[in-house]
Amino acid sequence: MPQPILDVSLMLAPAVAEGVDPARLSGDLAERFRAAHAAVEARRAKGEIGFFDLPWATDTAKRVQEVADSFGQMFENVVVLGIGGSGLGAVTLRDALLAPLWNERSAEQREWFPRLYVLDNPDPATVGPLLDRLDLRRTLFNVVSKSGSTAETMALYLTIRERIARLVDGDQVRGHFLFTTDPAVGALRRIADAEGIPALPVPSNVGGRYSVLSPVGLWPAAVTGVDVGALLAGAAAMVERCATDELARNPAGLFATLLHAADVEGRKPIHVLMPYSDRLRSLALWFQQLWAESLGKGGKGPTPLPAVGAVDQHSQVQLFMEGPKDKVVVFLAVTELGDPMAIPALHPEIAELGYLGGHSLGELLDAERRATAEALRQAGRPSMTLELDRVDAEALGATLMLLQIATVYAGALYGVDPLDQPGVELGKRLTYGLLGRAGFEAPPLGTGDPRWRV
Ligand code: PA5
Repeated sequence: MPQPILDVSLMLAPAVAEGVDPARLSGDLAERFRAAHAAVEARRAKGEIGFFDLPWATDTAKRVQEVADSFGQMFENVVVLGIGGSGLGAVTLRDALLAPLWNERSAEQREWFPRLYVLDNPDPATVGPLLDRLDLRRTLFNVVSKSGSTAETMALYLTIRERIARLVDGDQVRGHFLFTTDPAVGALRRIADAEGIPALPVPSNVGGRYSVLSPVGLWPAAVTGVDVGALLAGAAAMVERCATDELARNPAGLFATLLHAADVEGRKPIHVLMPYSDRLRSLALWFQQLWAESLGKGGKGPTPLPAVGAVDQHSQVQLFMEGPKDKVVVFLAVTELGDPMAIPALHPEIAELGYLGGHSLGELLDAERRATAEALRQAGRPSMTLELDRVDAEALGATLMLLQIATVYAGALYGVDPLDQPGVELGKRLTYGLLGRAGFEAPPLGTGDPRWRV
């Protein structure tokens, strides 16, 4: 099974002027990583970091598949309601693994698997039109919230439940919902128990942004025909590759240790994830949440920045090349992009077009990635590349697992807890106050001097 390969050669001196001395990979950085690895393993041993074990949760995967095959296939549309870690995983898997323009294909072209939508933001301008357009009688809503209390997701659930209740008989309403939530506690679990709504579990030691390989991401994938077994097999192989505490052999270790060093020693706190693949655009957004919410705390933390090649060569690459030297670019390269699509040799007499003939769109994209990495190198700016043979379930499972493991290593390196998110609590409480939730006072908002509203 081909696994993704991490190439860090362009993070190192002398290839890159500001690179790390390669001797450090078996010296102080190796020691630093060994301590981080031990800290993560100690937390794993206490049962605190559950995502490592998800590839072996075969009973759960079986149940996910059963619910997908029985319940899920009865519907023409599936809409996931979930935000943050409860929505981004489904979007990432959908965009990477389903056929392009999935929702625009006919049922036959989709082999009768449902269309898949994800609603995260409670923006009426998105929610209203989607609900108006879908045939709600033929739509299943997968409400995903580990806590079962997230305001945005609960508001969507209430809104949609009322719409469904207007369309179908009372006892059929519950038949339009599947919950994915904590196995024991929370409002969704209570409703599920009271009404007999099917509910898939999110293990209590798996946090939102680490839940893509739990039923949170697996069920939307399974219901649209993704090979969930292959996804988990790829992830399992990555866990095994990252078992070693030897830095030079552990891809997640190298990823985390070099990016951490680039930030704290090299003053490069901006970490760009730049896939050269449209199918992996959402992966960059998923990583943005993972890296930001896990590591940005206690006055520390890198800033993740999503990009996509080759589009950002006409946007952010100017900044990456000549702006502040505060960035590391992580490229994602895909060897086989499907049909490479030959570029016809038209207009051979016109120099600006003639050289393209005889190549393919895939070749162009790959050449642009290699050229951008080389241009950054010549400008003394480091980058690394994660190489995937192709975007399939196995490779994606491995990649997701690599980035999650790298994140908990990075937490240990920065000295922060990568599993919590205390910084989002105040905003939540103030929102509750503004909406009049019992026990939460409406806050005085520090809007400042009204004369400065121009
Ligand atoms: O990563 C996290 O923990 C968060 O982004 C959560 O996923 C997000 O806040 C949604 O939480 P919940 O699943 O409880 O609705």
